[in-house]
Amino acid sequence: MSLTTALIDSPQQAAEILRSGGLVAFPTETVFGLGVDATCDAAVEKLFVAKGRPSSNPLIVHIADASRWTDAAAAITPSAQSLLDAFAPGPLTVVLPRRAEISGLVTAGLDTVGVRVPDHPVAAEVLRLTERPIAAPSANRSGRPSGTRWRSVLQDLEGRIDAVFREDGPSLGVESTVVDCTGPVARVLRPGAVTLEQIRNVLPDAEEVSADPERGDRDAVRSPGTLHPHYQPRASVQLIDSPAEIDATRTKRVAYCGLVPVEATESLVLCSVFDSVDAYAAAFYEFLREVDRQEVTTVYVQLAAAEGIGHALRDRQRRSAGLQ
Ligand code: TXA
Ligand code: MG
Repeated sequence: MSLTTALIDSPQQAAEILRSGGLVAFPTETVFGLGVDATCDAAVEKLFVAKGRPSSNPLIVHIADASRWTDAAAAITPSAQSLLDAFAPGPLTVVLPRRAEISGLVTAGLDTVGVRVPDHPVAAEVLRLTERPIAAPSANRSGRPSGTRWRSVLQDLEGRIDAVFREDGPSLGVESTVVDCTGPVARVLRPGAVTLEQIRNVLPDAEEVSADPERGDRDAVRSPGTLHPHYQPRASVQLIDSPAEIDATRTKRVAYCGLVPVEATESLVLCSVFDSVDAYAAAFYEFLREVDRQEVTTVYVQLAAAEGIGHALRDRQRRSAGLQ
């Protein structure tokens, strides 16, 4: 595949490309999304090729307004309605029964569809002007860290997609929380920027689901995307609780990120210390990308505590190290 990837800055241009079956990366409040018309099989097929994404991993469908859920889903449930009332627009995806017009490639053959209303002026305007449900996975090559800067998107996808929206906004840095709302009890399939505590304030019985294969096939099938490798830099990722675990003599080029400062050494070529877990989450993917640009061999990642947004960050950190 070789396309000329245009750098664009008008939602109108993005909408025109999307309406004609093209692929456009645009910013959302979480990470950049790679958008495509969710009703067009041929366009969706191109997207899977561009990302190198396994066809068994379904895509989230984005809509301009929560009241337009019928653009993507065949029915809504009380749990989904409550979550949308509380968090839409925002970093939340509700899984509902699929509407027939949504391409079966988008849902990877499932009878359900993930629906999200992004809270970002560019994403919202693109969706409003396109007037179609837009499937948008994170705008990275499959397996790589997600991108929160247009230059990172270009690095992964130049020549493979039609356009990238040239705008970097503040982003939360972790993706939306995916909640299966099809059953009697809501189930959090992927932790994300809406915290588990916030979900349980609305739905006290919401369960968290692990994709750990030992917990049975049902969960694995319910949350297919969590089984594939994700967020991995080329460097070896070592998860640590404290910087005391850093072995700076072992390799020549070491990197560290975390909340606790470390002492400079000759082999520590890249170091990012954050003053809050929110700042840590916002910067984590771009830090991993910088690790590769600097040809680091081992990156030490201080694990976030599993509370608030730290819960989602910790999940991404574990996956970057190849753990489930
Ligand atoms: O914040 C986000 O959600 C970003 C921005 C661009 O909106 N998108 C994103 O998409 O993270 P992606 O494709 O990287 O991750 C989608 C996740 C995967 O884990 C996938 O398995 C899950 O959502 N998913 C999508 N549809 C599903 C469905 N019908 N049932 C269960 N899980 C689903
Ligand atoms: Mg992704």
